[in-house]
Amino acid sequence: MRTKIVAGNWKMNNDLDASKKLVKKVAKKVKGKKLKNTRVIVAPTFVSLERVSKKASGTPVEVAAQNMHFEKSGAFTGEISADMLKSVGVEIVILGHSERREYFGETDALLAKKVDTALANKMEVIFCFGEVLEDRKSDKHFDVVESQIKNGLFHLEAKAWKNIVLAYEPVWAIGTGETASPEQAQEMHAFIRKIVADKYSAELADDVTILYGGSCKPGNAKEIFSKKDVDGGLIGGAALNADDFEAIIDAI
Ligand code: 13P
Repeated sequence: MRTKIVAGNWKMNNDLDASKKLVKKVAKKVKGKKLKNTRVIVAPTFVSLERVSKKASGTPVEVAAQNMHFEKSGAFTGEISADMLKSVGVEIVILGHSERREYFGETDALLAKKVDTALANKMEVIFCFGEVLEDRKSDKHFDVVESQIKNGLFHLEAKAWKNIVLAYEPVWAIGTGETASPEQAQEMHAFIRKIVADKYSAELADDVTILYGGSCKPGNAKEIFSKKDVDGGLIGGAALNADDFEAIIDAI
């Protein structure tokens, strides 16, 4: 059975104090739940990773980084390596978020390198992709998503996929209050599973967790998560509030 995941991407929000408080609240809420086959992950900023990771240890909450550099070390001012993340207990990294692609010029080729580095370091990757509004309006969304996945991940051997989680985040739905309809999410997730099956195998595709992200809220999570190829969510804004995040976890 595929693992389900609810992951909170805190983006550039919460200082150290706020991050500690939020993870504590989330851990307390999650502790009391009988989570069957479901993981809960939070991704704070780099400065809070160590403390959040300490607070989360011994609880069901896992901690991810929001980004990572592909080199081991060296003259890369402002960057963070896989070793550094692992040294503070972080073994999951979000790569390819649309905000990284859009504001920081991250390309498919760069992301493929980051994916390789993460996997070589035995880290797990939450790999994000998704089309912008113009792509969808001009009916290019399937092509765009296919090329992002192909360029970022299809160089991998099948066995590497056990450490890959996919996150479909239509850019037009991120932070806009506008979500993909459950049918649009399902349609895209089924398409993603099909291209992975065509490239690798039906078994591999069936095992891959595919998250939906983009204005996922307590009010719409249940309907989106009810779709058969949607295995959870990558949550932005609603993950900053412990009650809302809990409601989304409950929706799964
Ligand atoms: P919102 O839930 O705020 O739309 O953000 C989604 C997202 O980008 C998660 O990575």
